[in-house]
Amino acid sequence: MSVLATSGAPASGNIYLTTVDGDPALGEEGYELAITPDMVTLGACQPAGLFRGIQTIRQLLPPQIASSTVQPGPWKIAAGMIRDYPRFVWRGTMLDVARHFFSVEDVKRYIDLLAYYKINRFHMHLSDDQGWRIAIHTWPNLATHGGSTQVGGGRGGYYTQAEYSNIVTYAQRRYIMVVPEIDMPGHTHAALASYAELNCNGVAPALYTGTDVGFSSLDTGREKTWAFVDDVIGEMAALTPGPYLHIGGDEASATSAADYVHFIGRIQAIVNAHGKQMVGWEEIAQGKLLATTVAQHWHSDLARQAVQQGARIIMSPASTAYLDIKYNAATPLGLSWPGYIDVQTAYNWDPATQVVGVSEGDVLGVEAPLWSETLQTLDDIEFMAFPRLIGLAEIGWSPAAGKSWDEYQVCLGAHGPRLTALGVNFYRSALVPWQ
Ligand code: ACM
Repeated sequence: MSVLATSGAPASGNIYLTTVDGDPALGEEGYELAITPDMVTLGACQPAGLFRGIQTIRQLLPPQIASSTVQPGPWKIAAGMIRDYPRFVWRGTMLDVARHFFSVEDVKRYIDLLAYYKINRFHMHLSDDQGWRIAIHTWPNLATHGGSTQVGGGRGGYYTQAEYSNIVTYAQRRYIMVVPEIDMPGHTHAALASYAELNCNGVAPALYTGTDVGFSSLDTGREKTWAFVDDVIGEMAALTPGPYLHIGGDEASATSAADYVHFIGRIQAIVNAHGKQMVGWEEIAQGKLLATTVAQHWHSDLARQAVQQGARIIMSPASTAYLDIKYNAATPLGLSWPGYIDVQTAYNWDPATQVVGVSEGDVLGVEAPLWSETLQTLDDIEFMAFPRLIGLAEIGWSPAAGKSWDEYQVCLGAHGPRLTALGVNFYRSALVPWQ
């Protein structure tokens, strides 16, 4: 039974959650946990801190509590004191729902697993060459036509605005901010296939179900393009309670360099005019950035150029943080263009030392992208994300000074029974001493 009290002292034998007299030094997400033989007391300054602390309590209790069937107690928890807060404010993962589409139910299940590991940003890659996955009322064909297929030619799909808002609210209740991405000016074939008037030659191409990149571009010199961009950004801003809109900006090889720079400047102004801060992949640093803009590092040193303009950086190095990369040559799913990423590699990197000229204070946080060219089911998502996403969560939360693969692999091994109890289809890496 839970009771909401506004006064009085807690009785022993309870788990007591409080924000009364919470220490502001704990910040938005920090918490203190005192476990004595009588009582568990969880204190935080903000509700988000209580929520993060509850995940710690769940992880301190025996793994069977995560089971969906009734399990015998007793539920023992070690006594002690914990004072805990994150190193970075941005601890995210990205899911590509464009190459393959995933249902609202699948996405919610994934969000629950993110919450368990204190991830606080869920970046949704909502459009790409192969599919447009969010209904835009002013341009309805984007979803109905542009969302009608996916890689390999399957049925695809899209979220209605009500469904999308349902995901956003579900995440918010777990103190996770959804960051929507509409990828432009490249990766736009699904949009070009949906509206003839967006194409230079006035002809809409057929839909695309392959996996090439870098062949599509919005026509940046056409006013119709800018009406489209403004409408899409406007509707996405209205659907987004958080401050950020991600505009992609990656791999725009079919856009000329001059057009690209023009595009970034103009779309940044549009995002701002709709009351949001722009996020984009590191290529955006080739344009003129505002200090409020955020660049997402993935494989070059362009992040330095972004920092020189005052922007902050999300660290997502493809060679360590990409969850769609194979663990090793035997992994049945995934890609291998930046090499392989085993569980140790996914843990053993530091966001403050990735790019020369980009240091701790420039880094907003970390994010692990999961591209879905080869992934078709929730089982596939879980197999690639777990356990590597736990390493990313650890990098984002814990101080760099305490980092130790030797200790981490033992802790991770203890999560095996938890992941099993949660029903997660995780990769049992031979590098980890699973319990
Ligand atoms: C990317 O992997 N194209 C950001």
